[in-house]
Amino acid sequence: MTLADSDATRLLRPAAPLPRPKRPPLLSALRLLRANPIDAFSEQAYEAGIIDITRGRNRVVLVNEPAAIERILVDNAQAYAKSEQQQRRLKPALGAGLLTAEGAEWRSARRVAAPLFSPRAIAALGDDMAVAADAMVARWRDRADEAAPLDLSAEFQRLTYEIVSRTVFSGALDDDRVRLHAHMAIYFDTIGRIDMASVLGLPKWWPSLSAIRARPSIAFFRGVVNRVVDAREAEDRQEAVDLLDRLMRAPDPQSGRTLATPAVADNVLTFLSAGHETTGNALAWILYLLSLFPSVERRVRDELSSLASGAPGRKDIEEKLVFTRAVIDEAMRLYPPAPFIARVALEADELAGEPVAKGTEIVISPWIAHRRRATWEEPDRFRPERFLPDAEERPRGAFIPFGLGPRICIGQGFALQEIVIVLSRVLPAFRFALAAPDKVFPVARITLQPDGGMWMRARRT
Ligand code: HEM
Repeated sequence: MTLADSDATRLLRPAAPLPRPKRPPLLSALRLLRANPIDAFSEQAYEAGIIDITRGRNRVVLVNEPAAIERILVDNAQAYAKSEQQQRRLKPALGAGLLTAEGAEWRSARRVAAPLFSPRAIAALGDDMAVAADAMVARWRDRADEAAPLDLSAEFQRLTYEIVSRTVFSGALDDDRVRLHAHMAIYFDTIGRIDMASVLGLPKWWPSLSAIRARPSIAFFRGVVNRVVDAREAEDRQEAVDLLDRLMRAPDPQSGRTLATPAVADNVLTFLSAGHETTGNALAWILYLLSLFPSVERRVRDELSSLASGAPGRKDIEEKLVFTRAVIDEAMRLYPPAPFIARVALEADELAGEPVAKGTEIVISPWIAHRRRATWEEPDRFRPERFLPDAEERPRGAFIPFGLGPRICIGQGFALQEIVIVLSRVLPAFRFALAAPDKVFPVARITLQPDGGMWMRARRT
């Protein structure tokens, strides 16, 4: 393939594995699922409304049809719980935090946390987000060798971690912030890989190497978070300055009770972990697509520079950044930062015209649903216009980067504001070019990451 050919191919189909012509046999499927789950699916999986993908003892179905996705996540959500597979990986670290809690425990935690993510609360965080983004821009500007490529994926993760940890803890973590981030990366890299035991449905007591490897990181998380929570309790401050304070004080609007200390610690870790890798990766993929499509980049930059100075907020996003918002949505369609959502059926149901027995494991993959042939026209192409306000309406279950229904991402508004603020800082300051366009490739762990990083040259404007 000549360079021009590969450039043209990328424009038609930005980096993505090709669907496999046939369902891979068991052993290669297990290898693929462990190496990169989005590379394990057949052409048929990208077409079907529902398809059996069982590999072990438990029946597993992949659900793609928008109406069926809506049924699982919204209309009949009480008949589905978070899957054992996912809980097995996340619960050891996140305990009864919002992402992993179920039933009454989840309802109470969600009620307590909701006001912390209200539009007003998020708007109040705008300046902090902008200060952190400005510091990153200054660091990039001051680099001795401007031509040396930067790994935007690592850079954005550092930034989004900085933002969420400041929002949660303000200054309390300063000494441990870097080490906590490093342990988080180890933990999610270790347990982020699908392990054979869960694909094959082996019992819970089956020893998992990942779980053993992840133990020191969990001990570290617990140590740091418990220490900070204890120190806050002893301080007895008058005013809440950050999310941690508010989480410790906020009463459940129904019961009037505040969260117990272990639940506060679980939620703090949940916000830290759920709140940075996803947003960091979303930013890296947005920059990737903008660098492939310079005319789109120009339009986004123009739109952002038309704003008044200061940190853009929700009103700007809704009223002025119409094209930018469409680009963000289209980037999250092609590269959904959370590529898999998993549930288990608590009772028998019917999905996409097929009976589903109680106990069936359900996989909803934003990666696949967002590229389903029957749902999207030219699904592999980058076409932000499909998200402009005058575009044809889509069923709700077609586009699900943040999930849907009662368990929809609580941080959606936080993430969108953060993405827009970061873009408003970096796009006017630098011209980005991919260091090795052919090397960019998505790999699914718990989040969808660029394999080996997203290396770009950033030249000052
Ligand atoms: C682009 C960025 C983000 C994406 C794509 C994303 C995606 C998701 C998805 C798909 C879910 C639903 C999972 C399910 O139904 O099983 C979820 C839940 C959640 N997310 Fe996010 N997320 C992002 C940013 C954030 C941020 C910034 C925070 C916090 C600061 C956050 C905190 C959470 C929490 C706590 C839950 C669990 C909610 C519940 O079950 O009640 N996320 N996220």
